[in-house]
Amino acid sequence: MIKVSAPGKLMLFGEHAVVYDKPCIVVSVDHRISVSIEKRNDNNLILTAPELDIKDKNISDLEKTHFKKVRFILTVIRNFFKKYDVKSGLDIKTKSEFSDKIGLGSSSAVVVSAIKCLSELFKIKMNEKDIFDLSYQTVLDVQGLGSGFDVAAAVYGGILFFKTAGKTIEAINIQDIPLVVGYTGIKADTPTLVKMVREKRTKEPDKINHIFNEIEKIVNSAKTEIENENWKEVGRLMNLNQNLLRNLDISSKKLEDLIKAALDAGAYGAKLSGAGGGDCMIAIVDENNLDKIKQAIEKAGGSIIDAKIPAEGAKVE
Ligand code: MEV
Repeated sequence: MIKVSAPGKLMLFGEHAVVYDKPCIVVSVDHRISVSIEKRNDNNLILTAPELDIKDKNISDLEKTHFKKVRFILTVIRNFFKKYDVKSGLDIKTKSEFSDKIGLGSSSAVVVSAIKCLSELFKIKMNEKDIFDLSYQTVLDVQGLGSGFDVAAAVYGGILFFKTAGKTIEAINIQDIPLVVGYTGIKADTPTLVKMVREKRTKEPDKINHIFNEIEKIVNSAKTEIENENWKEVGRLMNLNQNLLRNLDISSKKLEDLIKAALDAGAYGAKLSGAGGGDCMIAIVDENNLDKIKQAIEKAGGSIIDAKIPAEGAKVE
């Protein structure tokens, strides 16, 4: 049996713009998802996924009743078998350290873990870019949209400067980032928000393209300031990025409450992270203020997500 795990992610800068050929900065989070796979002597694909309430079920039966739930795993197996011309019955087990409700990227982490696991099991050499490409293709096959930044975070780990579809994937080499993460308790509906921004861009191309161009400048500056560990300036850039996201109408009252609480408690900067509407907000802080800012976010109704950030990319356990 082979077991592989991959980390979750948080968007630091550049959400939405990255769907339109702009760069973003993503950080991996050490809440991991693992996939274990072993070959069977028959042709059955048997899945156990406690987080989906699935135990020892044949995937072809689940396909009819739980298609939504198993579609990522099923598409991974189909794409992998087709690309590498292999076939076998498999026992597949998934295990998640985080809920798919908080927006840390559970689908991409499961897809990446499963593809790396299959490559080890069938002894097929895949480098990180090969794993990224097949995983991104799989995510697109299932959901039809997305920039792939979450897939890159799951494959490579660390902090990445990333351009749409993996045209650029560049590591930003720092060990630590003074980040506080607050969860709103509300699940963001990413596909709906991405489509909403797309419609806005169709209606008002000049306005929305201008916002994306401004976000691009912020992302490029943020890359340099993160490399310099100039957290005060990184915080200022976060506030500018958040203002532009407000102009896209994707923030929410709960996100704004948590952002305000963090800033009032002395954070250098704060913004939503991801599609908007819910999920998580992030704040860049002075280490000495960390506890005060966490308490302020909790008092405003958020829950703190504690995890090692950045985390290691996909790895065999
Ligand atoms: C969602 O977490 C981030 C978006 O930029 C979508 C994407 O990049 O796939 C809104």
